[in-house]
Amino acid sequence: MTSLAILGVGKVGGETAFLSAALGLVDEIILHDAYEPILRAQVLDLQHTGIDVTVSTDVAAMREADVFVFAAGTPRTPDIKTRADLLEANIPVAKRCSEHLQGFSGVAITVTNPMDANNYGLWKMMGIDRRQCIGFGGQLDSTRFARFLGEAGVFGPAWVLGEHGEHQVPLFSKAGANLGLDEREAILSRMQGASMEVIRGKGGTVFGPAYHIAMLIRAVLEDRREVLSCSCVLDGEYGLSGCSLGVPARIGREGILGIEEWDLDTWEAAKMAEAGAFVQGLCRRFDD
Ligand SMILES: NC(=O)c1ccc[n+]([C@@H]2O[C@H](COP(=O)([O-])OP(=O)(O)OC[C@H]3O[C@@H](n4cnc5c(N)ncnc54)[C@H](O)[C@@H]3O)[C@@H](O)[C@H]2O)c1
Repeated sequence: MTSLAILGVGKVGGETAFLSAALGLVDEIILHDAYEPILRAQVLDLQHTGIDVTVSTDVAAMREADVFVFAAGTPRTPDIKTRADLLEANIPVAKRCSEHLQGFSGVAITVTNPMDANNYGLWKMMGIDRRQCIGFGGQLDSTRFARFLGEAGVFGPAWVLGEHGEHQVPLFSKAGANLGLDEREAILSRMQGASMEVIRGKGGTVFGPAYHIAMLIRAVLEDRREVLSCSCVLDGEYGLSGCSLGVPARIGREGILGIEEWDLDTWEAAKMAEAGAFVQGLCRRFDD
């Protein structure tokens, strides 16, 4: 019996619940949302699929789940330019979330933005092992990077590390891309604007995040031990600590089984250091 708990069942949380059920990843799904009408609607809509999955809204049972997804809080609108701008709005939500999860022994996946800082905050407030806290966003950024690389005629492995935000770090060297600095910056700039185009058009990103979150849930529950770009609380890796940041992490049943330290070229190393310094600044809000 495997169970998935999702806090915040709006666009991303709701779609993640549906996909996890449709893909047969879990036997039980526990949903909770501060807004009762959306919670009720998502439960009914899920039940009306007829998929053989138990759906409950028992908040107290969330701490017993195998995997917990934190997707509650304020999303970006066209007026909110960066994910980091959501920090103050979502800190109280992260605090509330950590209260629900005291004693949690499963694997937590942070989605709510600014995701890296919230992942660090949840880890800190819940007082759990850093291997239990996985921040989601790097898989999605990497897929967007692959598309932009493909348009430039590059089809090597596409990895994005760093912040899930303005300070993302696309690894051109790993992709075997022989592009000049101007071309790198131009692709990076397109990546920074990639989700806003979707937000403007349909009110928020849904399919992309939900699909990759489901793949992350699968990696955990099926103990796949695959390396994915995930935000991890760092303890000296890449020369950084005091933050959670996107790094290549081996993911399995216990969460983060290990962090790989890859060689970065000069441009990438500088971007990674900038990302670290920026996210450390956000994370300090949770050290108060
Ligand atoms: N990491 C990523 O790649 C990624 C991708 C997309 C969205 N996001 C982020 O995920 C979050 C959710 O996005 P969305 O588009 O689903 O938003 P949404 O507004 O559709 O859903 C958010 C839900 O959270 C609920 N909520 C708010 N405060 C709560 C609380 N204290 N307890 C329980 N529920 C609460 C709201 O009622 C709402 O239903 C946002 O912060 C967004 O920026 C992250």
